[in-house]
Amino acid sequence: MDAFPSEFADLLNKRGQRLLSNPPRLDVFRKKRATPIVVFDDVIDRRVANACIALLDRAIYPVIRRMETPIPREWISSMKKNYTDKLLKTVRVKTATLNSRKSFALDAARSIGLSQMMRSESFRVFAESIVGMPVEQGHWGRQVICYEQGDYSGPHNDHHPESAEARNGFVDLHIMFSNDAVRSQQLVYEDHGFLSASHEVSGHSGIAVYRLPFWHYTTPLLGRPGREKEARRWLLLGSFDFDPPPKKPLW
Ligand SMILES: [Fe+2]
Repeated sequence: MDAFPSEFADLLNKRGQRLLSNPPRLDVFRKKRATPIVVFDDVIDRRVANACIALLDRAIYPVIRRMETPIPREWISSMKKNYTDKLLKTVRVKTATLNSRKSFALDAARSIGLSQMMRSESFRVFAESIVGMPVEQGHWGRQVICYEQGDYSGPHNDHHPESAEARNGFVDLHIMFSNDAVRSQQLVYEDHGFLSASHEVSGHSGIAVYRLPFWHYTTPLLGRPGREKEARRWLLLGSFDFDPPPKKPLW
């Protein structure tokens, strides 16, 4: 495989393609109090996942940039009252967005067919059919993220109250690949008001579909002992507004 397939559907195995041809009606996207997320662990074959990792390592790793928001010391020193701790989103990953025509990362992503695949109709339809509501057709957000040893995203909810299109809910589609050196990383998310649900996301491949906003975070990625420097988890992220945007919050 010297490039990603031009249609996302061709990355999927039989089980994954059935999700497209015959989408399940998932309770998590229909029941009022359920957390609207699903993670599929076995929809991309291992051989294909390894080929994707090789492409990302070769073409994308050289063009991604650090994205770091550390915890400022003042968040402790400026506190005047007990139990008034406030933690905004903190994060440490490497990333590249594919949204600007001028970005180096977009050129690199085009050279391996990644940009085309993340713009393909089946990529959009996958998000839409899993969530069970139509999403925008013309344009959507695309980003690549890479987690290495110790990298994480702290608790946040991805609510965008300033966006007329996204303020009542939107969809994130995550295509995930971890190499053999990754030991563990957990995606933790809220369940009935507690951050008590989690999913191991360090498998060779996986696909997560979120209808945001809700609270979630990832634990620090841990490499296998002695292989920490090699450990990498790749995340291909599509962000879709609903079309039409919901009139009221979906949560
Ligand atoms: Fe998030």
